[in-house]
Amino acid sequence: MNIDIISAVPELLKSPFAHSILQRAAERNLLQIHVVDLRLYGIGPHQQIDDYAYGGGSGMVMMIEPMANCIEDLCTHKKYDEIIYLTPDGHRLDQKMVNMLSLKSNILMICGHYKGIDQRIRDRYVSLEISIGDYVLSGGELAAAVLTDSIGRLIPGVLNDETSALTDSFQDNLLSPPIYTRPADYKGMKVPDILLSGHEAKIEDWRFEQSLQRTKERRPDLLKD
Ligand code: 6GU
Repeated sequence: MNIDIISAVPELLKSPFAHSILQRAAERNLLQIHVVDLRLYGIGPHQQIDDYAYGGGSGMVMMIEPMANCIEDLCTHKKYDEIIYLTPDGHRLDQKMVNMLSLKSNILMICGHYKGIDQRIRDRYVSLEISIGDYVLSGGELAAAVLTDSIGRLIPGVLNDETSALTDSFQDNLLSPPIYTRPADYKGMKVPDILLSGHEAKIEDWRFEQSLQRTKERRPDLLKD
């Protein structure tokens, strides 16, 4: 899979993909991530990328020309399955959408800054608008990192048995059960006996019950459908 990300602050996207699971995905050539510096498409001697909003109001808007030129440029090299704009007024991200996106080959993500991007970019180029939750970030980069991480780990071959996505919270609308590792007794705090029993079927039942219990308590909304 290939993910290109247009950003006015590419530095923000350096570290999130350089470690752990996504690093391994890149090393195995399962996921290529290219961060494109929007400033390279800026206008004039100052490589301007933002301007005042028509109609007034506080805050700058990202200009149409640099973004359009950047997108057009990228589109001459690749055919994108989705062009995603990260924005607080987008569809709220959930595991279902992540699963769907993990099946694509070529994704372009656009990160906004300031008050956002010119509406005409959204009208002309964007196929999907995504928010990562009901709160406001200062830019789309951290959201793009969250989205890329959630997609990247689902690409076949990225996770191994130990990190399998099949048992993730949300994959079956259930939260994960509690987990423990050694020691079995830490200052009197004991690991549930069932987990030490070696009885696989009973452990599975216990985990399912715990998942259900947790979901009922914390996220009853997940159990509605
Ligand atoms: Cl995608 N962008 C910004 N700026 N804020 C957000 C968001 C995205 N999702 C939630 N808050």
